[in-house]
Amino acid sequence: MTNPTQVPAHIDLACLRSMKAAGRKFAMLTAYDYPTAALAQVAGVHALLIGDSLATVLLGHPNTRPAPLDLMIVLGEAVRRGAPNVYFVGDMPYEALSGGTERTLTAARRFRDEAGCDAVKLEVKSRDHELVGRLAQAGIDTIAHLGLRPQDVLYPDGYRAQARDADAVAALVAEARRMVDSGAVMLLLEAVPNEASQAVVAAVNVPVIGCGAGPACDGHVLVTQDLLGMSAGRPPRFVPVLARVGEIMEDAMRRYVQDIVEGRYPRPEHVYGMRAPTASPPR
Ligand code: KIV
Repeated sequence: MTNPTQVPAHIDLACLRSMKAAGRKFAMLTAYDYPTAALAQVAGVHALLIGDSLATVLLGHPNTRPAPLDLMIVLGEAVRRGAPNVYFVGDMPYEALSGGTERTLTAARRFRDEAGCDAVKLEVKSRDHELVGRLAQAGIDTIAHLGLRPQDVLYPDGYRAQARDADAVAALVAEARRMVDSGAVMLLLEAVPNEASQAVVAAVNVPVIGCGAGPACDGHVLVTQDLLGMSAGRPPRFVPVLARVGEIMEDAMRRYVQDIVEGRYPRPEHVYGMRAPTASPPR
């Protein structure tokens, strides 16, 4: 019997496709830095995303729109150094999607050539099938992000679960098909019911990643800081908080402060000694 956690040495698109074909699910997390990426690879995480969620998680912005492309490329390089064997996806920030097709293509090439990404992900609207086609023609693997699209935060209903009735599911399926027909190598569905994911999975032949999209998806992605109990606010309902890393960090920092103010740090073992004086050379 195959071990469901067995991970091949290097994970590429072919590998994720064959996992789907074999009915094996894959695990994806966000990573914005070298140590997190290295831990994720050792833990057997199949895929990493340098998400535009870094705007909120790392930079403290109220939404993902201000994610800076240049910073994402630099941090993407660090993620790739930490996890050379995972399937690595660069998330196209609003900045890269709002200035026309050439700007988007340039940003996508930077994720591939500078940060070492295997694919880029973009939040797509219906009209973006042409853009997905241009990226495919340029040889860039693209993941189309459908359902809740956090960059739509400023629109009414933009930041709500999507596709919750039959008409909306039909529209989602049509959009998913259009993206795959235009060249998307995978889809990502965020915050949709499992029934919607089931319909999409049945309608397309590419792997479908879910982010709060139910068990029908072929793989699942979460924001690492949410999973580890490190996020500032309450994480979305679909996140299982599997550790309380934030509390561990806070506790250690509090002890560090107390040790300093109460004179317990530094202790002798933390202090450099003087070298023994050397004898002066003979004249
Ligand atoms: O930016 C992000 O973190 C995402 C999610 C799908 C995890 O896009």
